[in-house]
Order: sequence, then structure tokens, then C-alpha cells
Amino acid sequence: MEYPDQTIYEGIGGADKVAALVDHFYDRVARHPDLAPIFPDDLTETKRKQQQFLTQFLGGPSLYSEEHGHPRLRARHLRFPIGAAQGRAWLSCMQAAMDAVTIPEPWCEIMFERLTLTAHHMVNLHEENSLER
Ligand code: HEM
Repeated sequence: MEYPDQTIYEGIGGADKVAALVDHFYDRVARHPDLAPIFPDDLTETKRKQQQFLTQFLGGPSLYSEEHGHPRLRARHLRFPIGAAQGRAWLSCMQAAMDAVTIPEPWCEIMFERLTLTAHHMVNLHEENSLER
């Protein structure tokens, strides 16, 4: 289905909603045993970048690219070990954060589907290639 008159960003409530979502999300990331070890202790800058990125990812202004250039998201994640467990953990934190800030349908489903695809793309450790098992 098409929603030509409104972006996801506008549909969910714009900058305030994205800011609240990012806050809830990183509160959970910081407490998640599979995620906390690979994130910095101080998440201030991480939050700022994620807010910029999600804004443009959801169809709002290109805040991330204006400051940091092309996202190259997969390349930027390669220095972190991201396996299936981290991918699942990231998505579960995001699902919980989306529930906490209340994202209305149909946006909730569309948005989570896009985030799921992107999260799968970020996985860079695959068990069959791991020498550590
Ligand atoms: C699949 C699980 C994922 C893990 C484990 C993960 C982990 C990380 C880590 C450790 C950082 C660095 C934080 C820092 O040094 O400040 C980061 C940065 C970032 N992540 Fe993820 N991430 C995942 C998925 C995603 C997804 C799905 C998105 C987008 C929808 C995303 C967007 C970003 C952005 C925009 C940054 C900042 C990049 C920059 O430095 O400019 N990540 N992520």
C-alpha cells in the first residue's frame, strides 16, 4: 500500500517522537548483555547520530548525511562483532522502545519491517565462518 502524502517520519510524530524513541532504545541497549559490551559507556554521541540517521531513514530531513556524508552503514558497523544474537537483541530493544513511545499503525509495522531488513544487513559474523567455535 502507498502513503504518498505523508512520510513515516511525519506519520509517527516527527522530531519529538524520534528523540523519545532513541532515548528509550539506548536505555535498553545499555542494559542488554549482548549489546552493552560493544557500545561506548557514554551514549550521548551515539544517540545524537542515531537520531539524525533515523530522521532521514524514515523520510525526514537528511540530517545524518549533511553532517557525516553517505551513511555506509554496513561499513561503519564492520569494526564491531555483530552476530545473530546481537541482531536479535538490537531488534528486541527497538521493538520494546517502539512499544514504549507508542508508534501507531500502519507506521509501526512498516517501520519495524524496514529496521529488520537493515539489522539483518548489519550482521557481519556468521557461525559457519567463525573460527572461535
Ligand atoms: C544489528 C544489530 C546492530 C548492532 C549490534 C549495532 C551496533 C552499533 C554500534 C556498536 C555502533 C557504534 C556506536 C558508537 O561508537 O557510538 C553503531 C552505530 C550506529 N548504528 Fe548500529 N548496530 C546495529 C544495527 C543498526 C541498524 C539496524 C541501524 C539503522 C537502522 C543502525 C544505525 C547506526 C548508526 C546510524 C550508527 C552511528 C554511525 C556513525 O558512527 O556515524 N545500527 N551501531
